[in-house]
Amino acid sequence: MNLLVICGSFRKGSYNKAIARALPALAPAGITFTDAPPFEDFPLYNADKHEAGGIPAQVTKLSDAIRAADGVVIVTPEYNYSVPGGLKNAIDWVSRIKDQPFGGKPISIMSASMGPLGGGRMQYHMRTIMVFLNAHVFNTPEIFVGAAQNKIDDKGELTDGATREFIGKHLTAFEKFAKKIGG
Ligand code: FNR
Repeated sequence: MNLLVICGSFRKGSYNKAIARALPALAPAGITFTDAPPFEDFPLYNADKHEAGGIPAQVTKLSDAIRAADGVVIVTPEYNYSVPGGLKNAIDWVSRIKDQPFGGKPISIMSASMGPLGGGRMQYHMRTIMVFLNAHVFNTPEIFVGAAQNKIDDKGELTDGATREFIGKHLTAFEKFAKKIGG
């Protein structure tokens, strides 16, 4: 099973990137992870520009990667209680592609933040977005990594044992879910 990992933080020292890097070591054997093509430089979505210029090549590249994957893991911070703008913009672009690729796709959502709730409020907004896109979002166990600064060390290594265990359980259950749904 190949899972595409979309990280919503562009920050070099990102805690969410650290979670994304930890996934292969925590997953059951047989799951491979591929980083999503970059979306940091997507233009801001504007329907007029879309109509005039079509879909930018980098958007098609991200869309193709989503389509090719057996499932998608979204690992992202919460910004102002919601989805970071860069990630939302990327989803908005991809959603305008014919037969948009999130349709029917199994989705895992994880989040890390410096606050105590670990990005939980963003996750429920992301779930709403995925309803419109007709994706299948995995439910439990949920992964909210609160106080990430105490669980990820200076080298960007996820050191917290309980978090590692929860992520392992999430990925094991997500694999079963994704196989049942088919991607
Ligand atoms: C934040 N942060 C934040 N944290 C949180 O728990 N809930 C929130 O609503 C917000 N809002 C927010 C908005 C903006 C614009 C920024 C820059 C930050 C703090 C956030 O958890 C922290 O910066 C994380 O380190 C971001 O994740 P990465 O970049 O480390 O992956």
